[in-house]
Amino acid sequence: MASKKILVVDDELESVKLVGLMLQRQGYEIAAAQTGAQALEKALSENPDLVILDIMMPDMDGYEVCRRLRASPDTADLPIIMFTAKTQVDEKVAGFQAGADDYLTKPIHPDELASHVEAVLLRSARRQTEGPPPVSARIFGFLGSKGGVGTTTLAVNTAVALAQGPAQGKKVLLAELRPGLATAAMQLGLRRHGALAHLLDQPVEQLDARTVEAQLDEHSSGVLVLSGQVEPPGVATLILPSHAETIVRHLGAMVDYVLLDLGVGLDEPNRRVLLGCYQAVVPVEPQRVALALAQALLGELTGSLKLARHRVKAVLINKAPAATTFTKETVEGVLQHDLAGVITPAPDLAFQAAERGVPMVMVQPTSLVAQQFRTFAEYLVDA
Ligand SMILES: Nc1ncnc2c1ncn2[C@@H]1O[C@H](COP(=O)(O)OP(=O)(O)OP(=O)(O)O)[C@@H](O)[C@H]1O
Ligand SMILES: [Mg+2]
Repeated sequence: MASKKILVVDDELESVKLVGLMLQRQGYEIAAAQTGAQALEKALSENPDLVILDIMMPDMDGYEVCRRLRASPDTADLPIIMFTAKTQVDEKVAGFQAGADDYLTKPIHPDELASHVEAVLLRSARRQTEGPPPVSARIFGFLGSKGGVGTTTLAVNTAVALAQGPAQGKKVLLAELRPGLATAAMQLGLRRHGALAHLLDQPVEQLDARTVEAQLDEHSSGVLVLSGQVEPPGVATLILPSHAETIVRHLGAMVDYVLLDLGVGLDEPNRRVLLGCYQAVVPVEPQRVALALAQALLGELTGSLKLARHRVKAVLINKAPAATTFTKETVEGVLQHDLAGVITPAPDLAFQAAERGVPMVMVQPTSLVAQQFRTFAEYLVDA
């Protein structure tokens, strides 16, 4: 078998020589580049099997090189190991965010370098032969127009209503994609939290179907759950776009329906995940400020994200009884978007449900809201 070629990129010649020598001893062929521009050129002309990329370079830093390699179809799948003297965690996150496969810090022992190179090459070979698993599920992304509108409550109750009704005999899965918010798991009274964080601790290439499946819990309703954990924003592990995408792809290959609690906001992980969703579900509160935010979000989803209008579903959530409230028609007029469902206020039931860790549709299956959640679940299956 021809030996694998590794492109070593570093502005310091000594470093290129040292790493090159270590790898040559392992039987690899070496190509070298000393600037970012040269790296991009050689990534094409030398046709390497892997790139080892320094971060701090004068002309173009390693992150930028990494992003450009990922952006070009010819090099999008090229394995990249970031290699730098920096040891800060956020640097590491930035590396993965730019699309790196692995991260090593200087100085490095030859054995450590060799084992990482070998592992990354192996994973890339496996990925090429196996390909991504086919997504067979209908994936719904629940995305709040602002915090506290009832996104999690809607996702949880819809999942349970689905599992107990129109999707009986099929597999329904609810996943929290915000690592710090285990509120869905809490609403379902699940004891294990943090399954998602466990997946995020692993390099994205190591996330195979079995690893992801091992982190699922089954709720008494039959709904499978991937739980987040309770941690304030800023403390919880960040979810990277590639992680989010890979986890959702695996989930989508395992079950019939996937409901994602995406929390709030169109950050990069949410954008990527939403592109793979069958539909985006946006809970809306009938209140002036909330409506303005909802309108803006719907505009982004159909505008910059280019989701077709029929793939974006707005649901009106009334949480508190009000003397004067917006009608369905008024809200539709403001949003310029049809409402796919309406949930009426049930503060006592919501409170009871939260206290007991049992979703509203199960606490009082005969209540009006329970019926409304079931109607919405049926709507999703038929849509
Ligand atoms: N129909 C309803 N009637 C009354 N209260 C409700 C209703 N739906 C949800 N709530 C309550 O509203 C609060 C917020 O709900 P939830 O946690 O689902 O919102 P969220 O948008 O996911 O919030 P966060 O931004 O924290 O993720 C909860 O206390 C929940 O019990
Ligand atoms: Mg929530």
